[in-house]
Amino acid sequence: MKRRQLLWGAIATTGSVLLARCATVLSPTPGRSRVVSQAGELVADLTAAETWQPLAGRQARLLSYSGQVPGPLLEMNAGDRVQLRLHNRLTQPTNLHFHGLHIPPTDQADNVFRVAASGETLNYAFDLSPDHPGGLFWYHPHHHGTVAEQVFGGLAGPLIVRGAIDQVPEIQAADEAVLVLQDFDLDRRGNRREPMPMFRRWGREGDLITVNGDRPPQLPLPQNGLLRLRLLNASASRIYRLRLQNHPWHLIGLDGGALAAPTEIDELILAPGERADLLVAGQRDPAAYDLVSLPYDRGIANMMHGMGHHPRGGDRNTAPQSLAILTYTETTTPTPLPTALLPVVAPGEPIRRREFVLDHGINQGQFFLINGRGFDHHRIDTRVQLGTVEDWHILNKAGMDHPFHLHTNGFQVLRRDGQPVADPVWKDTVNIPAYGSIDLRVAFADFPGVTVYHCHILDHEDQGMMGQIEMQPSA
Ligand code: C2O
Ligand code: CU
Ligand code: CU
Repeated sequence: MKRRQLLWGAIATTGSVLLARCATVLSPTPGRSRVVSQAGELVADLTAAETWQPLAGRQARLLSYSGQVPGPLLEMNAGDRVQLRLHNRLTQPTNLHFHGLHIPPTDQADNVFRVAASGETLNYAFDLSPDHPGGLFWYHPHHHGTVAEQVFGGLAGPLIVRGAIDQVPEIQAADEAVLVLQDFDLDRRGNRREPMPMFRRWGREGDLITVNGDRPPQLPLPQNGLLRLRLLNASASRIYRLRLQNHPWHLIGLDGGALAAPTEIDELILAPGERADLLVAGQRDPAAYDLVSLPYDRGIANMMHGMGHHPRGGDRNTAPQSLAILTYTETTTPTPLPTALLPVVAPGEPIRRREFVLDHGINQGQFFLINGRGFDHHRIDTRVQLGTVEDWHILNKAGMDHPFHLHTNGFQVLRRDGQPVADPVWKDTVNIPAYGSIDLRVAFADFPGVTVYHCHILDHEDQGMMGQIEMQPSA
């Protein structure tokens, strides 16, 4: 059985797995495009520009990739060659980062130190290894100092790698929906509002939550069938607390890592940069079930209210909001949940332990600090040897959440606040709640060069919460 792809794929440029029934569930947004690799190659152009966009039933002046918010879905297979051209039609510099991909941080691959000046074109080219994990990744700008502004303006796009997880027969048979969560702050005419200074400091958020640039989509769930929900938090600062009302859902992957077996969950907390892969089995009463976003306090509510600031829109920020409506449709051939997914490979034994302390303060004009220091492009903060494993203790001394993200190589979360995590999986981003701590085990598997780790509340990153890591070839 072949999967149907919902929402994405309507106006596929080169897609092949489209079925007629999709037409009834399409996002009304025209021009939602999908680029699928052909014969081992994905070639695409992405133009970053400020454009008028349809957004949740109105027109909005946003920053878009190739006239779309979110940007086109790039879909490829492990082992493929990828060639992209980024055309910068913005009035400021930008570049591309491939969040979560295990590719070199150098040359024309995932090199976040390259810059496309306004009007310039940058070429990106890299190969995915044949055993690259299958998963949902994403691309977004990474030009230090304007990352929050550009991502909050709309620049973000999903990227799917098909790998081993996609070969699991039940997953292959499941319908699939990619849901990109973004929030916006617009005025009545559809222009982006300048964030208030407090939001610029603590992390800009907007009242308007969109799913694939639109209002909550209706997703058909065939009775007895399986729906694979792939969620991406592409928001600059907002942390989502998600729940599927009155219906079970099963986690099968986090970020780019698959679980060993589907695990039923209740709530899902999704920090900026994080992804979740879920299966919903149509085994309940035929009805409509809401995927809702619930309030989550990442440490700013008290701060804002204490200082007399209120997020725009007041109560709308705290009321549960529907992000998608799963609607039962006619009975299909029963597809059970898979009993097993992929074995989770252990990272190996660590050769050393490091500590990273996240805190607020002032150091050389920067406010968000790691080990007391703000980002300095001329300083390497951490040197590691490829082929080794390290334990990283990340301690959040501040009264605000900080989602920690490492480029190039993945990690497993071993402990939260000192408590062992059952069944760790491979991740690239992990939220560290206010005053909390996380123990990671990082496997520096491949790719020499310099890259970064940082907080994925992008205003925090822009204001210093980022360090540079050099991965040295093994002796
Ligand atoms: Cu998604 Cu360095 O970021
Ligand atoms: Cu990244
Ligand atoms: Cu942060």
